Amino acid sequence: MQNVESKVFIITGASSGIGEETAKVLAKNGAKVVLSARRESRLKDVAATIGKNATYLKSDVADADSMKEIVALAKSKFGKVDAVFANAGIMPGSRMSELKVGDWMGMIDINIKGVLNTISSVLPEFIAQKSGHIVVNSSIAGTKCVPGNAIYCGTKHFVRAMLDSFRTESVMEGTNIRTTLIYPGAIRTELLNTIAPSDTKTIVEEFYRNVALKPDAIANAVLYAVSQPQNVDVSDLVVRSINEQ
Ligand SMILES: NC(=O)c1ccc[n+]([C@@H]2O[C@H](COP(=O)([O-])OP(=O)(O)OC[C@H]3O[C@@H](n4cnc5c(N)ncnc54)[C@H](OP(=O)(O)O)[C@@H]3O)[C@@H](O)[C@H]2O)c1
Repeated sequence: MQNVESKVFIITGASSGIGEETAKVLAKNGAKVVLSARRESRLKDVAATIGKNATYLKSDVADADSMKEIVALAKSKFGKVDAVFANAGIMPGSRMSELKVGDWMGMIDINIKGVLNTISSVLPEFIAQKSGHIVVNSSIAGTKCVPGNAIYCGTKHFVRAMLDSFRTESVMEGTNIRTTLIYPGAIRTELLNTIAPSDTKTIVEEFYRNVALKPDAIANAVLYAVSQPQNVDVSDLVVRSINEQ
């Protein structure tokens, strides 16, 4: 497929859910994929399913050096990096009055700093080669505010504001770097495992039982964005179930 065949994609959070499915869909369309996450055995399984066009490294987006190692792996194994899907994230929702400050900071480390570590590791390559595509997984929670998920909403609004500002800088600088923000609605993955048993978890689980889509809805959205002609920037994509308000 145009702009996907033989292109090298780094995908964070590729050990399950949206990241895993996106890796498989991109590879099916001829891409080479470099898989990042902390659970090595899961990465190994995903890479084995894909075959020779996949490689992986146990890595933590909260650790900037880890992300540099992923870029080094992509270059040594496949010779370059064309695009990145900054997808890794967690959603340990709770009300702020519960003061689960450790969870707040965890979301900031992974959903905000993790995305920044991912971008800062690939940006020197993209600037030098005057091309590249940064796809970031925000959320519908990055477009509105809801109770029980204040910090998560904050992190997803952050990536939205950051990447769209970066897009305008790229235009100014003429670097040809494309950016895409994906805003998924409810998707059936392991994300809800990060919420501790609570009223919040019960409400979210009920909501997901009724409306959640399979991860291929998002993988296909990423494929659509990255396969556009080089002069087309699909900047924002909201993808949700026909049953989700
Ligand atoms: N599912 C939804 O309804 C939904 C909706 C909107 C947005 N999203 C976003 O979609 C993204 C993917 O989530 P998902 O739904 O696919 O859930 P998931 O199945 O739980 O996947 C999350 C991925 O992030 C990885 N991850 C978490 N912390 C990490 C860290 N410190 N370093 C590296 N990788 C890390 C996990 O791998 P390891 O645990 O192996 O490290 C896993 O591969 C998240 O950013 C989420 O906010 C999901």
